[in-house]
Amino acid sequence: MEEKLPSSTVGHRGRIAVVTGAARGLGRAIAQGLAGAGATVVGVDLLDLQETGQLVNKNGAGWLPIQTDISSETQVDVIANQVLSRFGRCDILINCAGVVDGKTWDELDFAAWRRVLSINLDSQFLMCKAIVPLMKLNSYGRIVNITSSTVKAVMPTQIAYRVSKMGLIGLTRGLASLGDVGITANAVTPSLTKTELTVGVGIPEERYAVFTQAQSIKRIATPEDLVPTVLFLSSAESYWVTGQAFSADGGASFGLP
Ligand SMILES: NC(=O)c1ccc[n+]([C@@H]2O[C@H](COP(=O)([O-])OP(=O)(O)OC[C@H]3O[C@@H](n4cnc5c(N)ncnc54)[C@H](O)[C@@H]3O)[C@@H](O)[C@H]2O)c1
Repeated sequence: MEEKLPSSTVGHRGRIAVVTGAARGLGRAIAQGLAGAGATVVGVDLLDLQETGQLVNKNGAGWLPIQTDISSETQVDVIANQVLSRFGRCDILINCAGVVDGKTWDELDFAAWRRVLSINLDSQFLMCKAIVPLMKLNSYGRIVNITSSTVKAVMPTQIAYRVSKMGLIGLTRGLASLGDVGITANAVTPSLTKTELTVGVGIPEERYAVFTQAQSIKRIATPEDLVPTVLFLSSAESYWVTGQAFSADGGASFGLP
């Protein structure tokens, strides 16, 4: 089928982009990056989105904040309906919201397992189910799922977390079957980046040093480091790339023990 290119081929101008987890951390940096490239951003988060809104507005980009819980099927339908009634379609979905569990096998109970799987995998399924029809309206869509380099690591903790992120790579491969209707899906796997998430679960300072040493580029990752990769995968130009999982990690995937 003929690939639909944007009316302007400059950056993401004119695109409608939904970013989950946009209130802080990687999601906020991605929202800002998309706005800088000209997209109108729909920021979704459980938390207040005012600060992200200010950053997006600095770029003069369109902005719609939706403070809600993406693990609720009803709420996800509300998000899709708001996007549809305001913009008539959706071009880009960045599934970035997520939580991490620091539990070992002995500590992990079914409730904790279900919570992580619900927020990190069920929600992404629900978001795709609700947003893909809005992409089909224009036979165009770019889905980027944020996973984690921990899927490759052997670790005593984050068991449910790594299962959810592995599952998200599986979901990405399933979504790639939408290629024939103009929709691509790819995953990006960042490595340890200091955010409120990693500080919140008490990742010790030594751990950042281990990653810095393991990386080819020897400094601590920032949320902004992920943005260029996400911008490419969410652009029209990435039309021939789908079903892939990319490490954007300063080379950590080569150096980690
Ligand atoms: N920081 C890292 O080292 C790192 C590394 C690899 C992957 N990741 C992944 O990147 C993503 C962002 O991580 P971060 O470090 O920016 O975390 P963060 O905690 O700073 O941001 C995550 C955001 O998701 C939101 N969120 C959580 N549950 C939600 C729900 N049910 N509904 C709506 N919003 C919800 C939170 O409120 C928060 O604003 C996550 O998926 C994480 O697994 C992070």
